[in-house]
Amino acid sequence: MGSRRVCDELVAAGRVTVNGVTAELGRRVDPSADEVAVDGVPVPVVPDLVYYLVNKPSGVVTTASDPEGRPTVLELVPASPRVFPVGRLDFDTEGLIVLTNDGVLAHRLAHPSHGVPKEYLAEVQGTPEPAALRRLREGVELDDGPSAPAVVGQVAPHALRIVVHEGRNRQVRRMLEAVGHPARRLVRTRIGPVADPALRPGRWRLLRTDEVRALYAHSSAKEGRAARPQPRAAAPASAPAGPPASAPASAPEGGQANR
Ligand code: URA
Repeated sequence: MGSRRVCDELVAAGRVTVNGVTAELGRRVDPSADEVAVDGVPVPVVPDLVYYLVNKPSGVVTTASDPEGRPTVLELVPASPRVFPVGRLDFDTEGLIVLTNDGVLAHRLAHPSHGVPKEYLAEVQGTPEPAALRRLREGVELDDGPSAPAVVGQVAPHALRIVVHEGRNRQVRRMLEAVGHPARRLVRTRIGPVADPALRPGRWRLLRTDEVRALYAHSSAKEGRAARPQPRAAAPASAPAGPPASAPASAPEGGQANR
C-alpha cells in the first residue's frame, strides 16, 4: 500500500479495518486469517501472491495443459510460483488475461454475479449497419440464451469495440456471428479497470498493487448483480465504448519479461 509512514497515516485516518473493525496503530494481523481493508476494499496481505497481466497471442491455449500439445498461456510466465488463468480466452483470441495464485480474487472475478466488464476490439467481416449494432446493444439470441446488452462502438468500418459483462463460451464471437458479422480477429483490451496498450503480445508484467485493489473493488462493487440482466433491457445510449478506466503505459516494478 505504501511506505510505513503512509500506512500509519491510513490507519490514523481510520481508513483501515481488520475483520471489519477500524484498526489502531500497532495492531498486529495474521495475514492468513485476518481480512484487512482500506476504504472497505480488501488488501491482499498474503505474501507470495503473484498477479501477472499477460497479453496472450493467438494460437495459445488458456488451459494448464493441452492434449494436442499446443502452447499454453502458463508457458508465457515464470514456472514458479504456480499460477492459473482467471477466466479464459479462446485459442484464436488475443489480448489481456490475468494469471495468479490468488484463489480469492480468481473466484471473485470468475463469478458471473460480479460481471466485471471486459472490453474487446473486433475486426469483423463486412460493415455492420446500425441495425446490427442495435441488436448487439440490446442483446442477441444465442443457443444458450440471450446475451446481455453490450456496449458497442464502431471504431472503423470493419472494427467494433465491444464491452460485455458475461463470460460465456466464445460469447463475443457468437454474438458477432448472430448479427452476420463474424470476427476475423478478436483482442481483449481491458479487464475491468486493467488495461495496458503497451504490453506486447506474448509478454507479461506484474499487476501493480493499485490494479489488484481495483480488481477487488470492481468485483465486490458488483456483488449481487444478476449474471444475465433481463434480455431486451434498454441498451446503453451512447455508441462508443469509453476509454479504459486506467491505462498504464509503462511496466511497473518487476518489469516485463523477455520470454
Ligand atoms: N469472447 C469470445 O468469443 N472469445 C473469447 O476468447 C473471449 C470472449
